[in-house]
Amino acid sequence: MEQRKLRSAIVGCGVIHSAHADAISQLHEHVELVAVADDKLERAAKAGEALGVPHFHGLDALLAWGEFDILHVCTPSGLHAACGIKGANAGKHILCEKPIDVTLPAADALIEACAANNVKLEVVSQHRFSDGMQHLKTWLDEGKLGRLVFGESVTKWYRTQAYYDSGGWRGTWELDGGGALMNQGVHYVDQLRWIMGPIKSVAATMGTLSHERIEVEDIVSATIEFENGAVGTLMASTSMVPGFNQSLEVYGSKGSVRITNSKVMFAQFVTGDEPQTMWGLEGTPAPLVVDGVWQNDDAEADTTTQGQGAADPRAISNLGHVAHLKDLCECIHSGAETFMNGPEARYALELIVAVYRSAKTGQRVMLPLEA
Ligand SMILES: NC(=O)c1ccc[n+]([C@@H]2O[C@H](COP(=O)([O-])OP(=O)(O)OC[C@H]3O[C@@H](n4cnc5c(N)ncnc54)[C@H](O)[C@@H]3O)[C@@H](O)[C@H]2O)c1
Repeated sequence: MEQRKLRSAIVGCGVIHSAHADAISQLHEHVELVAVADDKLERAAKAGEALGVPHFHGLDALLAWGEFDILHVCTPSGLHAACGIKGANAGKHILCEKPIDVTLPAADALIEACAANNVKLEVVSQHRFSDGMQHLKTWLDEGKLGRLVFGESVTKWYRTQAYYDSGGWRGTWELDGGGALMNQGVHYVDQLRWIMGPIKSVAATMGTLSHERIEVEDIVSATIEFENGAVGTLMASTSMVPGFNQSLEVYGSKGSVRITNSKVMFAQFVTGDEPQTMWGLEGTPAPLVVDGVWQNDDAEADTTTQGQGAADPRAISNLGHVAHLKDLCECIHSGAETFMNGPEARYALELIVAVYRSAKTGQRVMLPLEA
């Protein structure tokens, strides 16, 4: 049976809305953009004109019209739950930008509203769909890494002072919910938690060292104790000129994987008594063999800023947004649970909230957190 084409509307016509509009147009057989809204009328009008759809002044006006199925929430982070709850209460499925929101009570309220209204919730964490992360997850699930020993998430990005000065919400606790970790590091915090599993405790240090007029951190570092006994570290900064690619390193008793810019840069596993070299995986650059070990020769990917927003928040690939939207559309039709549902997205938020609590109190913080 042919499936009905779904209708999408975007609220929040700033930097990220075009990634959503692009994703919708790439999935035109399944979904179409039918409206945009922003609480700044001129922004809504400009986006509506550029995208060839009607525009609305604010979310309430968009919902009063109501002729759509999916609400794409692209507003500042601290408004995600408020906007998503309004949408859910109006019977709309929600595709929410990362993070799910900036506080656990807000995230929980959004999750509850979607469940109560029987609508789907999908939260963006686009790197989960990357080739590198998909390989790593498969190797993990196949047991190739053995017992997990250590995981490290690194975000050495750069944001200018002008970036923080450009929007009233950026760099505020209320609406950005934090700085380098909540806004930029969240991508790889989510990958770290996804791969390494539940967290037992964190201890963190943070500071605001290279920016002015912001309330939040531009550098943070934490040590992590995982429930499975593994150890971890994470760091995030927006102070690292010129901005380097995010990386995730995972070490197990039987193998090591290093991912940079969503690509596997190094992977080696032990089978039996001998190290096993991984070869020529589909979709990865040609491997360089050094002493029988698979290494990725994409030195640029390893060190410089390539399409992941390391220095420019607009410079992101939208393959992950397409994958999220496709998953949401399929789940709306099938009734299945979404890949990145509310509880799954809440894990990264919980870890970030724990890091901030630890840095502010100087105490190691135990998880799970009371909301
Ligand atoms: N997935 C990614 O890689 C990625 C990249 C950038 C931003 N984001 C996320 O997207 C969200 C938006 O970021 P941005 O950089 O596009 O911000 P932005 O400031 O460029 O755009 C936000 C827009 O929302 C509008 N807005 C604010 N409050 C509103 C309200 N109550 N109702 C309707 N519209 C409202 C603003 O007028 C503005 O046009 C953030 O949560 C951010 O974390 C994700």
